[in-house]
Amino acid sequence: MTVLVTGGAGYIGSHVVEMLIADGFDVVVFDNLSAGHRQAVHKDAKLVQGDLLNKHDLANLFENHQFEGIMHFASHILVGESMENPFKYFNDNVLAIMNVLEFATLHDVKRFILSSTANLFDDPQTIPINENEPLIPGSVYGETKFWAERILHWMDRIYGLKYCCLRYFNACGAHPNGHIGEDHHPESHLIPLVLQVALGQREQITVFGTDYDTPDGTCIRDYVHVLDLAAAHILAFRVIKDGDSRAYNLGSGTGYSVREVIETVRKVTEHPIPIVEGERRAGDLPTLIADSTKIKRELGWSPDYDNLHTIIETAWHWHKKHPHGYDD
Ligand SMILES: NC(=O)c1ccc[n+]([C@@H]2O[C@H](COP(=O)([O-])OP(=O)(O)OC[C@H]3O[C@@H](n4cnc5c(N)ncnc54)[C@H](O)[C@@H]3O)[C@@H](O)[C@H]2O)c1
Repeated sequence: MTVLVTGGAGYIGSHVVEMLIADGFDVVVFDNLSAGHRQAVHKDAKLVQGDLLNKHDLANLFENHQFEGIMHFASHILVGESMENPFKYFNDNVLAIMNVLEFATLHDVKRFILSSTANLFDDPQTIPINENEPLIPGSVYGETKFWAERILHWMDRIYGLKYCCLRYFNACGAHPNGHIGEDHHPESHLIPLVLQVALGQREQITVFGTDYDTPDGTCIRDYVHVLDLAAAHILAFRVIKDGDSRAYNLGSGTGYSVREVIETVRKVTEHPIPIVEGERRAGDLPTLIADSTKIKRELGWSPDYDNLHTIIETAWHWHKKHPHGYDD
C-alpha cells in the first residue's frame, strides 16, 4: 500500500513517514525542499523532489506511482508572515492543495489526510475546544486551512474522496531515536526557541505578554508530541477507507503556560534560561487547549506523551545531538 506524503521532508511529515514505514507502508515523499531536509526522509521512503505548484512535476509523480492515499503536509506555516504577505499564502497554500487534488481525483485516489490547525479557532466560546466551535480563522494562514477543509468537502461530494482534517494544536518534541526533529528556518515555536538559549545560540527568551487572564499571566497552549500526531494520521488513514469524511481537534488536552514551558526547559537542560518580559503580540489568545474526546472515542487515539517534561526531553535529545539541525 503506497502512501503519498507531501511535505514529508518537513518536521511533522518526516515523523509520520518514519511511523508509516515502521507500520509496513510504502511511502513516496514529494517535497520541494524549500523548508524540508533531505536527511529527514527515512531511507526506505522514496523522495521525489518536486513542487506542488508545478503541474508537470505532479503529472510525472502520478504517472510513475499508484497511490492508495495522500497525507498532505506541504504548506507555508508562519502565522505572522501570512499577515505580512497574504498573497504568498493565499496563492501557494491554496494552489498546492488544488493541484494535488486535481491529480488525486484524476487517478482515483480515495483517501486524503489534511494537516489543519488550531488557528481555525480565533474566538472559542468554550475551553477546551471541541469540533462544535465555530471555525473562525485567526490569520491568513488559518484561512488557507479553512479553505482547504472546504475544498475537501466538495471533493468528497463530487468525487467520493474520503478525507480527515486533523487540526493540530502546538506540535512539539522529536523522535526519541534522535535522528529526526524540528529544524525550521526561521524558528517560530516556543520550545525550540527556548532550547536555543540552553544551547547558547540565543542569550535569552522574550515572553510576549505577562498580563493575560491566566494564573501566571502568560499564554497557555496545548503541546502535542509529534509522534502522537503521527499515530493519529495512521489511525485516521485506516478508518476513512470505509468510513465517512471527518475532522478532529488534536491536542494533548493539557495546557501549559509560557512560564511553565520555560521552567520545564530549565529542569531538563539544567540551564538558567534568562527571560525578558515583552509586550503582548497582536492576535495571541490567552488560552488554547484542545478537546480531543472525539478522536479518542471514534479512533481509540490517546497520546503516549502526556507530560511536558518527557516531551521536552525528546526535543532536547534531538537539539543537543544536532545543535544546527540537519546542517550538522
Ligand atoms: N508545526 C505545528 O505546530 C503545526 C500546527 C498546526 C498545523 N501544522 C501544519 O502541519 C504541516 C506541517 O508542518 P511542519 O511544521 O512540519 O512544517 P515544515 O515547514 O517543517 O514542513 C512543510 C514541508 O512542505 C514542503 N513544501 C512546502 N511547500 C511545498 C510545495 N509547494 N511543494 C512541495 N513541497 C512543499 C517544505 O519543503 C517542507 O518540507 C503544515 O501544513 C502546517 O501548516 C503545523
